[in-house]
Amino acid sequence: MVTTGAAQGFAVLAAALRAGGATAIGFEEPGSYGVRGHLESHGLRLVPVPVDGDGIDVAALDRSGTPAVFVTPAHQFPTGVVLAPGRRAALVEWARRTGGLIVEDDYDAEFRYDRDPVGCLQGIAPDEVAYIGSVSKALAPALRLGWLAVPGKWRDAVAERKAWADLGGPVLEQLAFAELLASGGYDRHLRRARLEHRRRRDALVTALRRHLPGLRISGVAAGLHLVVELPEGVDDEAVAGRARAAGLGPLPLSRMRLSGGGPPGLVLGYAANAPGELETAVARLGTLVTSPREAV
Ligand SMILES: Cc1ncc(COP(=O)(O)O)c(C=O)c1O
Repeated sequence: MVTTGAAQGFAVLAAALRAGGATAIGFEEPGSYGVRGHLESHGLRLVPVPVDGDGIDVAALDRSGTPAVFVTPAHQFPTGVVLAPGRRAALVEWARRTGGLIVEDDYDAEFRYDRDPVGCLQGIAPDEVAYIGSVSKALAPALRLGWLAVPGKWRDAVAERKAWADLGGPVLEQLAFAELLASGGYDRHLRRARLEHRRRRDALVTALRRHLPGLRISGVAAGLHLVVELPEGVDDEAVAGRARAAGLGPLPLSRMRLSGGGPPGLVLGYAANAPGELETAVARLGTLVTSPREAV
């Protein structure tokens, strides 16, 4: 199904799950604050399931008893962790044994720099996985163009929800995108964009090492953002608030957690800024984190 962005995929799936009697969905902890809002606003209760260095904890998911789970296996948002092979197998086994639905958000799979591409879960378990993607990260979020592939048993419920939502999305953008794909232009664009994003990622990491030395940086191998951990006891909401007032836009890591705990940190996106802008922004951020009074 072609959707108006991944966001509509979340919406129609959440509504289909609700129509099928589900009231809750397992959700990565930490996980995307934005996606959380979408799923909650469509009536699902989110049950936090911890993410560690191998991705989502499938044993904890199993214990939670939820009938569905939302995951970002290729590049977990926000930690950047890749779902380890053993966990991928365990997650599919969970879905087959319980009849649970895996909702896979492949939100930035096109951008990986220092590691091999990771195949999507849907490719190995099409009867268990609802796959969501969009052009938002690769082309432009304003296009509102995405896709959703669901197991056969969910097809009618999802199609009905989409029909009630809008009877179908605009077709001109779809035709233009089809042409871009068929001509090879999309692949060329992705190759160029990958090089440019890698340059931006490198500039951001270099600037962080210079202006905020000693802080742990994670999630750099792929995607369009990274996470920098702040020293224990720092209020990351307050730092992010001061940064916003200074014209910067980091997101506080604590906001990505449903149940609190864990180290403070900042989620930094680098897709929209040239290397020089990133250097200037991090110099400013460094002052805000290390000596907040002088910086305000
Ligand atoms: C992890 C993740 N995936 C996807 C989206 C939405 O993407 P789209 O612009 O395709 O609706 C968001 C934002 O809400 C997000 O945080």
